[in-house]
Amino acid sequence: MDPASLVTDTHVHHSVYTDPALFRLEMERIFGRAWIYLAHDSEIAEPGHYVTRHIGTTGVIVTRDRDGSAKAIVNRCTHRGATLCAFERGEAPHGHQCPYHGWLFAADGALKMVPNRQNYAGVLDLAENGARPVRLESYRGFLFGTLDDAAGPLVDFLGPMASSIDDLVDRSPTGRLSCAPYVLRHHYRGNWKMTFENLNDTIHPGFAHAASVVSAKHVAEEVGSRDGLSPTVGMMLANGKPIQFFQDLDMMVAPPGHSYIGGHMGANYSPDTADRYTADLIAFHGPEKARQVLGTDRHLTLLYPSSTWHARYQTVRIVRPVRHDLTEVIGYVFRLEGAPEETFRNAIEYVNGANSAASPVISDDLELYERLRTGNGYDGAGWIPYTRGLNEDREAGNGWTRTPATSEAFIRNQFRAWAHYMEAA
Ligand code: FES
Ligand SMILES: [Fe+2]
Repeated sequence: MDPASLVTDTHVHHSVYTDPALFRLEMERIFGRAWIYLAHDSEIAEPGHYVTRHIGTTGVIVTRDRDGSAKAIVNRCTHRGATLCAFERGEAPHGHQCPYHGWLFAADGALKMVPNRQNYAGVLDLAENGARPVRLESYRGFLFGTLDDAAGPLVDFLGPMASSIDDLVDRSPTGRLSCAPYVLRHHYRGNWKMTFENLNDTIHPGFAHAASVVSAKHVAEEVGSRDGLSPTVGMMLANGKPIQFFQDLDMMVAPPGHSYIGGHMGANYSPDTADRYTADLIAFHGPEKARQVLGTDRHLTLLYPSSTWHARYQTVRIVRPVRHDLTEVIGYVFRLEGAPEETFRNAIEYVNGANSAASPVISDDLELYERLRTGNGYDGAGWIPYTRGLNEDREAGNGWTRTPATSEAFIRNQFRAWAHYMEAA
């Protein structure tokens, strides 16, 4: 099978969403080659602190080492292959010990100790049996890992889209962020790519989310203004904006597979918070930079193939492929250290609306992902067009392409990256 034959400039073959063999190839060639967002510095603040995450279907442990650096290893014991760590986060100041026969691994994977080592008949070299290290690079406190030792630097992978991470960090009036110690997650029975193709699709909300648009309009009428509406209600109202509004909104795409669309939820902080927050940002950045930070309004940034970012609501979501037909989406929310508490409360409300399975918005999307799995699972389902906005792309310099937010350019951009990754080495 030649993966490149499944993608054209205008169509993609349905099997890319449903074929288990293609999924395994994606794990090897896409998730085995790209930089994958893993964790934020604040989650492993002290030596010995660790979190467990995934690169594709491979579990990894990210640990703060004794020298203060972050280290990552594959979450697998080199003896019989058991996963080393079953917890999501914790402290392992003396290393990660396998629960099966007690082999002990350092943060960087070095095999430090094997109980009853003399029983291995002298054919066990500690130096040759370390856990597999995972290459890490950090961008402004955000740790990305790759299983590809030959991958180019992280900044090349991020390209101009690094500015969306800048957008998040620069919103802190101290330059510091901390990841809240709780997460909101959901699973759906469908392919991981469906999330990437849905989140910046501005045509679907008016249809898929119509019911919650009606509810939100009732709420807004009762409240009498947009002020004081929660971000979830703001999101629901934004979903009901006319198509021309989204036609006039920008979408920006950049290789490999990344994109964002302009902000459109129009939610504001309360006047007191806005004043104090603005003053704090001016004190930290100076007036010009503060104005630029506050004037930036991006909706979701998609860092293909593994994470989505919303700086204005301090939210990062990891899209984790589990099987060809099973995906987990994990939402993390960040506190802007030193900013008014309302900025954090707003972010929590946003991630509730954006990532809770109980959200009146997300439940619609999950229903549709399952319908996509069913419809695209039919034998001979055939080719899927993605031609919306095909001729509207404009070069915008610096690696960007600008196009209306109603375009499917971001999906075409994702499949250009998909085909590139999937080419044999
Ligand atoms: S499988 Fe880990 S020590 Fe045996
Ligand atoms: Fe949606």
